[in-house]
Amino acid sequence: MKPTVLITGVAGLIGGYLARTAARWAPQWNVRGVTRAEADLTDSLQLKELWRRYQPSLVIHCAALSRTGACEQDPAQATRINVDATRSLADLARDIPFVFLSSDQVFDGSTGHYVETDAVNPLNEYGRTKVEAERVVLQNPAHAVIRIALTAGTSPTRDRSFVEDMVRTAASGMKMTLFTDEFRCPIPAGVLARALWEFAAQSRGGLYHLGGSERLSRWEIGELLAGRYPELLPWIQPGSVADYHGPPRPPDLSMRSDKIQAMLSFGLPGFRQWLTTRSQAGDDPWG
Ligand SMILES: NC(=O)c1ccc[n+]([C@@H]2O[C@H](COP(=O)([O-])OP(=O)(O)OC[C@H]3O[C@@H](n4cnc5c(N)ncnc54)[C@H](OP(=O)(O)O)[C@@H]3O)[C@@H](O)[C@H]2O)c1
Repeated sequence: MKPTVLITGVAGLIGGYLARTAARWAPQWNVRGVTRAEADLTDSLQLKELWRRYQPSLVIHCAALSRTGACEQDPAQATRINVDATRSLADLARDIPFVFLSSDQVFDGSTGHYVETDAVNPLNEYGRTKVEAERVVLQNPAHAVIRIALTAGTSPTRDRSFVEDMVRTAASGMKMTLFTDEFRCPIPAGVLARALWEFAAQSRGGLYHLGGSERLSRWEIGELLAGRYPELLPWIQPGSVADYHGPPRPPDLSMRSDKIQAMLSFGLPGFRQWLTTRSQAGDDPWG
């Protein structure tokens, strides 16, 4: 009998990739993916029943209210799923490895090139819930928090990743201004999933950053994507965050992933190199 890994949020982008890639990267596990339809993780009775049903040996917790706008609109719900449900799950998982996915949005983006020891200072509700949940999870030294960078991929519902958002916006005929002075370290979802599986196999606790090895502006990311999705081209234009009027945006959320890189059997790729190589080979860009 293989040990069971419980993956929450499998109808989402990253949980979906973990489930899809498990046969390749984690054949040693009996994978149980949970959707909200099977269990609402904010409901303690449903959560306990889920735990009783699967009795996992590992949890990878991907379920979240992951859109910053949705968290701003309903901070109470954001706290319920991002913090309270995480606390309940971490408590149930107190004697087994637990991997919680956090975000680069815990930082204010004032300096970029963030490492795990840098101070957090979230600018939005989403980031605040992640900071709170991180503190809860890290109380157990056997538990791990992985801060994820902007992730590119195709979600089961086709409406979750930033790439899907951009393609949909272009299809609706809306212009997108992509900032030349806002930076991220994007990572393809398939690469992320492989790294998470390798990390999980090592049963390590603590705090880690996981992103692509290349720091790119939003505009550079858009230009690269337009090479793969030419329908984006008429709808993207460069701009400066200095001309943007709206809720605060962290300008530079680039992270260094050296700590987790040292644990992996493969090099975390740069987004440009990855996309170019995959396109030339005619492969699925997100792996
Ligand atoms: N994608 C990124 O670029 C990125 C970057 C940094 C960090 N992260 C973090 O990585 C994790 C996974 O992200 P993702 O992009 O895969 O998110 P996602 O696509 O939004 O998926 C999250 C999943 O959680 C489920 N969920 C929400 N509330 C729930 C509840 N009460 N009970 C059970 N399930 C619930 C959602 O269900 P429904 O489908 O029913 O809504 C959804 O399937 C999240 O913690 C996110 O904050 C993601």
